[in-house]
Amino acid sequence: MKILVTGATGYIGGSVAAKLLAAGHRVVGLTRSDDGAAKLKALGIEPLVGSLISLDLLAVAARGVDAVINAANSDDPFAVEAILPALEGTGKSFIHTSGSSIIADRGAGNASDLVFHEDTPYRSLPERQGRLAVEQLVLSYGQRGVRTCVIRPTLIYGTGLGLHKKSIQVPRMLDLAISKGKALHIGAGENIWSNVHIDDVTDLYLLILEKAPPGSLFYAENGECSMRAVAQAISRLLGYGGKTESWPMAEALKEWGISAHATFASNSRVSALKARKMLDWQPKGVALLEDIEHGSYRESQSAAKA
Ligand SMILES: NC(=O)c1ccc[n+]([C@@H]2O[C@H](COP(=O)([O-])OP(=O)(O)OC[C@H]3O[C@@H](n4cnc5c(N)ncnc54)[C@H](OP(=O)(O)O)[C@@H]3O)[C@@H](O)[C@H]2O)c1
Repeated sequence: MKILVTGATGYIGGSVAAKLLAAGHRVVGLTRSDDGAAKLKALGIEPLVGSLISLDLLAVAARGVDAVINAANSDDPFAVEAILPALEGTGKSFIHTSGSSIIADRGAGNASDLVFHEDTPYRSLPERQGRLAVEQLVLSYGQRGVRTCVIRPTLIYGTGLGLHKKSIQVPRMLDLAISKGKALHIGAGENIWSNVHIDDVTDLYLLILEKAPPGSLFYAENGECSMRAVAQAISRLLGYGGKTESWPMAEALKEWGISAHATFASNSRVSALKARKMLDWQPKGVALLEDIEHGSYRESQSAAKA
């Protein structure tokens, strides 16, 4: 198949593009820069220079491929509004990348018992309402002749398979620990996130492309742990002996802005039983805490020091 990937220079999109190439597909990759285009070309990806507001360009490109994977920005409505009508009635696949912070709470570092499945009712935080609206638009095209699917990855970890090697949460917590000389978690750090290895996420995209029904939604997770446990693993990685300290919510908000709440201080606990059962997804990546302390995060720390 020939597949358009937005975010092809990024962590998720680049990793998915690499897996698609390895599986024998042709990939067209969107990037905003000439530099990005040259780097994509070197990887065997056909570059498409434009942005998520290059609406005509995106619509034309979508008509010229067999499937689209949207992995540039989970919150952007414009690209979705441009591409979906261009695919209406074609039966082509459109896979949209969302995230499990759709069901995140205002935990502020405190734990929650709630674990969400795809059909569990929830109320998104105000700052995630836009993301939810984009998802709903995408899923609605399942009734309009597009094989649309939404994937909600949790905390993704591990080294990216494309140009951008780093994910969001663990690298940000690691950088924070290095800059402060101590590992921090927001508040009590008892808030829990489900997590999933990038290799397993990319496998799920390929399975969705192959066999998911139109209008379907999938969580992606393969375990969970508290943010304090993440901070403790970072502390051991950095030689701080596993000791961590609490970071007041107000300070985290000052330094990290609004994402401090939904992305770092919330609970986001989900089950990916549906993907395992319906698509036979079998995640097998190394566990998060092991990967921080003894795996890819230790390797990149050693490489940075060398
Ligand atoms: N990483 C995670 O753990 C995770 C989990 C769940 C959801 N998500 C969400 O998934 C999305 C992608 O995450 P990521 O970690 O892969 O991010 P990333 O590494 O920053 O990659 C995003 C890519 O999208 C492209 N891009 C950004 N804005 C664009 C625009 N306006 N027009 C065209 N291209 C644009 C950029 O490419 P160029 O600079 O080359 O244009 C960039 O390389 C984000 O919205 C994120 O919140 C991430």
